[in-house]
Amino acid sequence: MNTFYITTAIDYVNGSPHLGHAYEKVLTDVIARIRKMMGDEVYFLTGVDEHGQKVQQTARARGIDPQQFCDEISAEFRALLPKLSVENNDFIRTTEERHKVVVRRILQQLFDKGEIYKAEYQGYYSTRQEQFLQNKDRNPDGSWPELFGEVTEITESNYFFKLRSYQEWLVEFLTKNEDFIFPKFRQKQVLEFLKEPLNDLCISRPKERLEWGISLPFDEDYVTYVWFDALVNYYSAVADKPGVWPAAYHVIGKDILVPPHAVYWPIMLHAAGLALPKGIIAHGWWSINGDKMSKSTGNFVEPVAFVEKYGVDALRYFMLREMSVGQDSDFSDTQFLARYNAELANNLGNLLNRTLNMTNRFAEGVIPIAGEAGEPEKELQAHWGKTQVEVAGLWSDFQFHTALEKTMGFVTATNAYIEKRAPWKLGKSTDAADRALLATSLATMAESLRLAAVLLQPFMPGAVAQIQTVLGYKPTGILAEELGWGGRLAGSKVAASLVLFPRIQAEATPVKS
Ligand code: ME8
Ligand code: MG
Repeated sequence: MNTFYITTAIDYVNGSPHLGHAYEKVLTDVIARIRKMMGDEVYFLTGVDEHGQKVQQTARARGIDPQQFCDEISAEFRALLPKLSVENNDFIRTTEERHKVVVRRILQQLFDKGEIYKAEYQGYYSTRQEQFLQNKDRNPDGSWPELFGEVTEITESNYFFKLRSYQEWLVEFLTKNEDFIFPKFRQKQVLEFLKEPLNDLCISRPKERLEWGISLPFDEDYVTYVWFDALVNYYSAVADKPGVWPAAYHVIGKDILVPPHAVYWPIMLHAAGLALPKGIIAHGWWSINGDKMSKSTGNFVEPVAFVEKYGVDALRYFMLREMSVGQDSDFSDTQFLARYNAELANNLGNLLNRTLNMTNRFAEGVIPIAGEAGEPEKELQAHWGKTQVEVAGLWSDFQFHTALEKTMGFVTATNAYIEKRAPWKLGKSTDAADRALLATSLATMAESLRLAAVLLQPFMPGAVAQIQTVLGYKPTGILAEELGWGGRLAGSKVAASLVLFPRIQAEATPVKS
């Protein structure tokens, strides 16, 4: 069996997790769940990035040891995952020994091959970005862009990795592998970036300036540059697991594509004689009520508070329904409540309520066997046939927002079907033809609900499990078997009722703090 290996970015532990972190983990989880339903063996890695200046500074500011600080914040990131219904197989911390040994091994190997050299550097350095700057990074008026924070002039000896000698190779690789980066326009941006000559990458920091890192194996006076350390996590976590590397897809945000993931990482692997990952998925950024997410202005969404208030499935659904993978999106309470009420409470919730309610009222709670299909049933079945084909295509193109729109479109069509058949009228009739039609319509609405739930499962695993339970249905978990229209529910005993998504009255919500 093929392993499908999928990773998220590893989060910096210099602050608590926010909506952007939550989204990335849920997006990755959705892809992982889809692949599992398709029969793949999935290995899903996430984790935290614990070294570097920012962590050292934040820990010092709080007067605690960096390791203790990392232990605390990492525990917070880790605890968020089950709350988001994220089913990762592994969680890596870059302070773990299993990671450090692999980073050191790769560094030593590159050093022995002559890919790393020592040189004196004189120039500008941004502590905030942990990066050396050049004059071309300045604003037109000569000042430094705000994102660099304080910029200081330094002279120091450091180790450099020969990035530049691989530039042509990388351009060729990306030209040959057009689909390496999703979305495609991002791959074009990388090639655009590669039109300028690359500088060799400074991969060390003197310990006088930064202690919190992995010591270079060939010079104990230095620690490893945090990006060189962090990127290796994708490999170090599975280095001893046969058949996993390089089956990797990296899910990351657009801000860390160029240069770390699209330039440094492929070159590091290639220079070390390791195979490249299969692809990179770069998602966009969330803003909150139109503004950049920021702790200092209090403009951010705390995922845990949100999940406690509205439930994890509502949050997962909203994030995936609202954002087109690769584009930016805005998170607002108004938009969340609008989708929640219209799509989850009034559409899906309504279909569930009607199905349970009418099956109990008119069929003693047992889903009947469907009779011969009439026009309305045939129409609904055709709609399903179209939906499942479209959704499969949209899933494989990472178009989850449209996939959910189509899935909900089928739920809407089922509710319209119920209006058309009006089982509440048929239920009052004693006519044999009406009774047969009643059985058919009850069976049809239940089957439609079961099918819609299959397509919602990767997005709302908890809600779908509840729907299956109240329908008295035990799914196989195998997508190909679940998607066929059939009489699978005939004879199932349904529950009395279940309110999955209670309507929410618009109000000020505590998502901001
Ligand atoms: O960059 N919307 O960590 P990080 C969407 N440690 N995604 C967002 C976001 C937002 N508003 N804000 C952040 C790092 N993210 C490095 C990664 S990987 C070897 C090392 C995403 O905590 C961001 O794009 O700053 C990134 O993919 C992830 O959260 C972690 O960001
Ligand atoms: Mg960041």
